Amino acid sequence: MARRVPLNNPTTAIKTIKEDGGVILTGFSRRSDVERVNDDAAPFINALVEDRALRSLPRETTRCTRLFGRSETAREVWLQQPALLEIINYFLRTVSIPYNDAGDFKLGTDAILSAAATLDVGPGVKAQDLHRDDFIWQQTHVNRAEEHTLGADVCMGLLVPGVDTNVENGATLFVPSSHLWEHSRRPKHGEAVSVEMGVGEAFLFLGSTVHAGGANTTTKPRPMHGFFYCRSYLRPEENQHMWWTSKEVRQWSLAAQKQAGYVLDNPFLGHCNEENPVDLFRANDAHM
Ligand SMILES: [Fe+2]
Repeated sequence: MARRVPLNNPTTAIKTIKEDGGVILTGFSRRSDVERVNDDAAPFINALVEDRALRSLPRETTRCTRLFGRSETAREVWLQQPALLEIINYFLRTVSIPYNDAGDFKLGTDAILSAAATLDVGPGVKAQDLHRDDFIWQQTHVNRAEEHTLGADVCMGLLVPGVDTNVENGATLFVPSSHLWEHSRRPKHGEAVSVEMGVGEAFLFLGSTVHAGGANTTTKPRPMHGFFYCRSYLRPEENQHMWWTSKEVRQWSLAAQKQAGYVLDNPFLGHCNEENPVDLFRANDAHM
């Protein structure tokens, strides 16, 4: 089972993550703040649900992407808690001494946000396949034997339930200590446990930990707010995406767009609203 540790005890939380690959943080949020974030995501979720209904599409899992900007409570209250940042940066802070003439220059960088979205898992949605989130950065794993190796992880996930989660409504499936497994090892039946959480708790886990969203067998949707962090160096040196307007980028060749990172060449990395940025350019062009 997933172990519980109070957020205000980061030392024990770190120890637990090193051993299990994940931990339930109790005292993560006030109930009123969870309700506030639920309300922040709801208009975007509802608009998508209505749109699907109009087009006779199944409800399935409806996502509110861009949650970091859309929810001030999530961004400024949840994600700025010193104890949370202490735990995340214990695993994802990168420190190095670059080669240079003086030899006394040290670089230290903290984790950055990789993605933030509410996943509103509808009734009848099946469980995800068990996976490791770090596959999007094409990580492979050697057997880490008995102990976690600090520095081996490139990303972490934080899941904050919008309602109480249980086996019936699809609490997250988690394989304890799977962050220590070599790449090809698959869980045996019964090795995945359900991370059942009450409102106000959160599950923090390493990107190397095997997990999946559970099946929702109830008649109600299960909203889960997800925040994902990566090492700060997992980005280009110059931020092309900040400089150029979509109008300018549309003039570039597809090869140039791809070279500058505007094209998905991996099913997930660099998406915009879960779509390929160049497809969004084309969709916008069609409306002009
Ligand atoms: Fe995942």
